[in-house]
Parts: sequence; structure tokens; C-alpha cells
Amino acid sequence: MSSSGPQPRRKQSRKGSMADVPKDLLQEIKRLEDLFTVDTAKLKAIVDHFISELAKGLSVEGGSIPMNPTWCMGFPTGNETGTFLALDMGGTNLRVCEINLPEEKGEFDIIQSKYRLPEDLKTGTADELWAYIADCLQQFIEYHHEGEKLDRLPLGFTFSYPATQNYIDHGILQRWTKGFDIEGVEGKDVVPPFEAALEERGVPIKLTALINDTTGTLIASSYTDSEMKIGCIFGTGCNAAYMEHFSEIPKLAHMKVDPKQEIAINCEWGAFDNEHKILPRTQYDVIIDKDSPRPGQQSFEKMIAGLYLGELFRLVLVDLHEQPHVKIFEGQDVSALKKPYSLDASFLSDIENDPFENLQETDDTFHTKLNIKCLKPELELIRRLAELIGTRSARLSACGVAAICKKKGYKTAHVGADGSVFNKYPHFKARGAQALKEILDWDKGRDGKPLGRGHDPVEILPAEDGSGVGAALIAALTLKRVQEGNVMGIRDPEGMLKGTKASDPKSKQVAPETK
Ligand code: BGC
Repeated sequence: MSSSGPQPRRKQSRKGSMADVPKDLLQEIKRLEDLFTVDTAKLKAIVDHFISELAKGLSVEGGSIPMNPTWCMGFPTGNETGTFLALDMGGTNLRVCEINLPEEKGEFDIIQSKYRLPEDLKTGTADELWAYIADCLQQFIEYHHEGEKLDRLPLGFTFSYPATQNYIDHGILQRWTKGFDIEGVEGKDVVPPFEAALEERGVPIKLTALINDTTGTLIASSYTDSEMKIGCIFGTGCNAAYMEHFSEIPKLAHMKVDPKQEIAINCEWGAFDNEHKILPRTQYDVIIDKDSPRPGQQSFEKMIAGLYLGELFRLVLVDLHEQPHVKIFEGQDVSALKKPYSLDASFLSDIENDPFENLQETDDTFHTKLNIKCLKPELELIRRLAELIGTRSARLSACGVAAICKKKGYKTAHVGADGSVFNKYPHFKARGAQALKEILDWDKGRDGKPLGRGHDPVEILPAEDGSGVGAALIAALTLKRVQEGNVMGIRDPEGMLKGTKASDPKSKQVAPETK
């Protein structure tokens, strides 16, 4: 990617001045700094523990981090062709895409529709969920293929929750995350009820691959960048996927697969340190966990992911207001601030993005959204708190990336990342890069040049569309394996071809390797 036109030499930043902040608030700011700052030594200790936990998740006994094998075995070559559907069940939207992979290497065409995921569906019943999703797919097909006689279309379904996959077309939900709480889904395979809802409506779709958003991100990004080694999501939730050799996966040893064969592992690293051995949790992190639908789960995620950043910030402010010795928002009605989950991560982003020396925009936001009029020193504290929470998130996120790189022995790597926090939260990328530098002790770039964008040995870069193109590619890779008779980790290989274009050897649905 290149940019044209004159660029500002340095991004404007606001340093802030604590000169007129009274002593009690200054003391509080110092206390918050001590609570939320993760120094280099602590980052390194976290990474060391992370590495052993990644290995533990791959062992027969298992550990907190699920390290789910995905049965996505290997990267795309760029020669995949055909038409695929992709469905993404995200936190706020359902997205349906039709992706055409043409014969030109590494290219793709995409059409897509978004459907709002009604909030009450997240805590409703399983039947309502599958019916809603099937209706959306039906609507998509009717809209884009009105009156056409269709072959069954292969579908890659991005289901971004921890799932045990004995096969790629199968997935037992381990537990809901990201605030979802739909009864009767955990512990069960999500594919049969999903397919039954499609069948009932006569929608001509065959689920080919159930994937995680991180695996999709890894595969989509590797389609256009051969240095991609890890796919990450830093959004409402957080997680990563990477390719592991069977030799390193004792829990799959009984399958006697060639030890050199690779398989994508969906780490589900949000569950790192559920036993609270190493992460520097604060009293606020403890409250977030306790009041969540799944206490004790997703410890790491609850400290860094977008769903929780605004809530952490809110909890700190409420606590400060309630301390008699701290004079903050005195005499103000803080009822709006007291509402759980009333502030999302974009509230913090806006504070960090406030370009004005006097924090005018922050002042306005507090007034309009929370009905609180802030004094200048209070604004300084608010700003510092947002920085501390945002910085901790980025630095802890980098620990996961560094742990995979160290485990795999990657001295250099590209990491494809997606998600609202990565894409929109100010300074997240730079703070993450700084933490990687500290953890991995870099003193110069991969090319001997000074460190910086384009030179850092490990770089976290914006990913390609994982739940669209990535899902389509994984569906293509799976169909290709079926066509070649390599059906390991595929439950219903025959059903996958039946009634689809891929059953016709002359069709362009997933081209043979000989191109
Ligand atoms: C889920 C993961 C997902 C991540 C990012 C987590 O809450 O458990 O499966 O990859 O969020 O969406």
C-alpha cells in the first residue's frame, strides 16, 4: 500500500499537563499508573508463562488455553478457484458474502450483505438463533440469485467462539464468550441444528467448513502475503491462530499423521491465565469477571478486549467517586456513569483522540453522554486513565504474539490482525510494536536498518478479510482435499460434493494443483 500527497511529519499529540492537578488527584493518578502499568520485566515473565501454557494446551492433559485443532491443513497456493459463500456470526452483525476466486492468482471478487444481530438474540434460545441465521442466508440467496437454478453452494461459516472440532465440518461449542449466553448450545455440535434450519427452508447451501475468525484471518492474509505466520483478532474478543506441526501436538498423536504435516491451531488465548498465576489483575478486573455471564473464564480477554475496556474505565471512575478522600465529580449526578457496560471502547478512543489541549471534546462527551461537568484536573485524570487502560491492552496483547513467535522460533514474521480495537483504537499498533521490541530485545530492524514500520522483525499488520475471503479459502482448501481423497478431519466428504459444482471434475470449482 502506498500513500500519496504531503504527509504531516509527525502525528500531532497532546502531552497534557498535570501542573494544576490537586494533590489528592495526583496521588490517585500515580496509584492508577502503578496498577495499570506493565513494565518490561513483567511482560517477559508473562510471555514465558504464555509459552508453556500454549504447549500445555497441545498436550494430552490439556490446560487453560484450549489450542483447538481446526483441520485447516496448510496455506492456500493462490490457485484456488470457484464460488463460495461465507457467513460471519460476529458480535453485532451477521455478514453473508459470496466470494468468487478467479483464475488470477491471489485475486477475489466479493458481494456481501449485512444483517443486524438483534441484541436479545444473544441471550435468547438456540432455535431462534439458527432460524434467524437461516432466514438471513435465504434472503441473501433470493436477493442475489432470484429465479436462478442453483447448484448447492459450499459455505465457510465463521463461528468465532471456542469450539472442539473433531472434523472441520463439526464444532462443539466449549463455552460462549463475548457476552453471549444462549441456552442449550454449549457442549453440543452447532452444525446439525444450523443445517436443519437451512434444510427446513430448502436453502441450497452445504456447510463445508466451520472456522474461527482468527483462522480465517491467518489464511486470508497468507493468500496475499507469504510471510504471514499468525492471524489475530483484537476486537470485542481477542484470540490468535497459527500453523503447528503434528509433531508438536501430543493430543493428536493417536491419529498418526505425518509429524511434518501442519494444521492451523485456534489458540483461544482469551483463556490464558484463568488460574490467575501471572497477569497483573486489578480489583476492577476482578469485578468485571465476577459480574460476567461466565466468571472464571477468559481472564486474558477480559483485561484487553474491546468489550471490556469501557467497562474497566467506568468501574475505576465510579470507585474514585465513591472514595471519600478523592474529590471527583463532587456534587454531580453520576447515575448515568453507574450503569454497567454503558461505555464502550469507542468512548475511550474518543478521549485518547481528543486533539484539544484543554480536552474540550472529552468535556463535551462527559456532559452529553453522562450528564457530568468535569473540572480541568478531572479531565486530566480521565485522559490518563484512558491511556493507561489502552496501553495495558496493547502491551498484554503483544505478549500473546511474542509467545507464539518464541514457541515457533520465528525471528521474523508478519502477523495479520483485525478487529475494532486493532483498527480503530488510537496508538494500539504503536504501543503493541513497542512492547514487542521490549519483549524480544530488538536493537535493530530485520534488514539492519533502524527499527520502525517496515523494518521491525515481527510486524502486526492489518489483515485481509478473514471471515469473508478467509472462510471461502478454507472451504476451497477443504473441497480440494475431498477431491484429492485426503479426507482426514472431514466428517461428511461425500455430502460435501453432492449437488455442488465441485462434484463435476470439469468445473472450475477448486482447480487442480497442475496449474
Ligand atoms: C472467542 C474466539 C474469537 C475471539 C475474537 C473470543 O471471545 O472465544 O473464538 O476468535 O473472541 O473474535
